[in-house]
Amino acid sequence: MAAKEIKKGIHWVGAVDWDRVLFDEIVALPEGTSYNAYLVLGGEKVALIDTVEPYKRTELFENLQELGIEKIDYIVSNHAEQDHSGAIPYVLERFPEAKVVTNAKCKAMLQDLLFLSDDVFKIVSDRETLNLGGKTLQFFLAPWVHWPETMFTYAVEDKVLFSCDFLGSHIATSELFDTTDENRAKVYLETKRYYAEIMMPFRNFIKKHLLLIEELSPEIIAPSHGVVIKETEFILNAYRKWVSDNVKPLVLIPFVSMHGSTRTMVEFLTRELSRRNIEVRPYNLITADLSNIAMELVDAAAVVFASPAVLAGAHPSVIGFAYLMNGLRPKTRFLSIIGSYGWSGTVVEKHLKAVLSSIKAEWIEPVMIKGFPGRDDFERLETLAEILSEKLKTA
Ligand code: FEO
Repeated sequence: MAAKEIKKGIHWVGAVDWDRVLFDEIVALPEGTSYNAYLVLGGEKVALIDTVEPYKRTELFENLQELGIEKIDYIVSNHAEQDHSGAIPYVLERFPEAKVVTNAKCKAMLQDLLFLSDDVFKIVSDRETLNLGGKTLQFFLAPWVHWPETMFTYAVEDKVLFSCDFLGSHIATSELFDTTDENRAKVYLETKRYYAEIMMPFRNFIKKHLLLIEELSPEIIAPSHGVVIKETEFILNAYRKWVSDNVKPLVLIPFVSMHGSTRTMVEFLTRELSRRNIEVRPYNLITADLSNIAMELVDAAAVVFASPAVLAGAHPSVIGFAYLMNGLRPKTRFLSIIGSYGWSGTVVEKHLKAVLSSIKAEWIEPVMIKGFPGRDDFERLETLAEILSEKLKTA
């Protein structure tokens, strides 16, 4: 996509990856993605904020050429992950006078990943500034959005915040620059998916970063992926809600059923919760898009895993999802398990509890039944629905 000016003297010069379907080989990209690099033209110096995936470097160079750029003084690296740093060696090859501006931790990671020599770096500390001539860049250490070395760069006079991965979305679009009435729902959805899959484990760090952004009060937020945000409160308010300690009275039931016993239990529990006016959403893990469940985990109050016993444990697809949830560390308050077994009634619970060790939620007595559910089993499920509905009323 062609270069675009987002404010006088500040241009998007990145690359759009229209048909990429996975990031880090795990994060679903139903809308593709972009690698947003930005050029800041000061009166004396020129700074490039981040680069692109190395296989997309031609697009970056085309955009620089289109703007007639013959000199780059600084390459600011907000994050060492290769989707933003990977083309730095190619930019240095083309502009050998450029210095890589970053913090000490990011420098070390860039050297591990890209074998850059010491003399190409200019190290900056928290809140340090860099004068480009009429445009000042200020750097803010912002660890864990998404790695420990991440930082923000702020164009002070223009009030543009280059927020790195933070507040981004995986969206490939030629309408890169803003939220409009037409795309508002898509931007919200993809920003939430991005938060769920990438940022959610760092919720407590993010709370602090949101306060910093409030202090800066930027007019434009220019993240490293997806749309550039002019309606900053739209995204900041969404983030404030997601990182808050509040949960939604919603029960998720990720399940697998081999011969229908567990499915029958899931359907019964779903009906019983719904009868009590509790929002409930079963997800068949064999067919569900995990990123959709991850989005629900952002604020669901309870998760009931439903699995048959198989291979001396829970079903591998249930374990796979539990492992993902354990890593994403959502603010789920209550957990439980239902399912069916043939000869060993405890293996599913033991397996799942071991995998979910990072989730600090209250466990509600599981309902594991032998064979197909009978009358007593349905009564136990009714009791589980009653307990959940009482808990969720006060969650
Ligand atoms: Fe977009 Fe953490 O890289």
